[in-house]
Amino acid sequence: MIISEILKNSKILKMILPATKVFDCSVIDLSKVHTQQGNTTVAENGKGIPFDVKRVYYLYDVPGGELRGGHAHFELEQMIVAASGSFDVILDDGKFRKRVSINRPNLALHVVPGLWRELDNFSSGSICMVLASNQYYEKDYIRNYDEFLSHKNNE
Ligand code: TYD
Repeated sequence: MIISEILKNSKILKMILPATKVFDCSVIDLSKVHTQQGNTTVAENGKGIPFDVKRVYYLYDVPGGELRGGHAHFELEQMIVAASGSFDVILDDGKFRKRVSINRPNLALHVVPGLWRELDNFSSGSICMVLASNQYYEKDYIRNYDEFLSHKNNE
């Protein structure tokens, strides 16, 4: 059982969001191998990824003008890649907001835990690929912005 589950199931302890800031997130160049036949980019555990990848998922066929995300994670770390097309990621630590444009398949946005994030401005046909540090646990999510702020303000 991951720590967040133990804490959330506990009657005594409150879930604690890490005191992370939007400035803790960075764009990592996974680099690319260029050949005459086209480009190749590799994401491999232990080689430039700041965590071990346990899950990969991707968002696609996102209708124009649609907003995705709208949540924070207690523990999960992610690398967000535009495998095709482009979109924006809005990061929010309760104090600062930062909009990052993701538009190259070799560039990955590393998102640390404890931040509110939204994704918008999806180009037609874009694919948002996410490398994640853990399996899917709904209890690791905060999906309400006011609840997120109350956790962050208690830091
Ligand atoms: P959700 O987290 O709501 O999407 P967003 O990235 O926009 O916040 O996920 C959309 C749906 O997919 C929701 O029903 C939960 C489901 N889902 C899984 O079953 N497993 C997963 O790993 C993820 C990321 C989502």
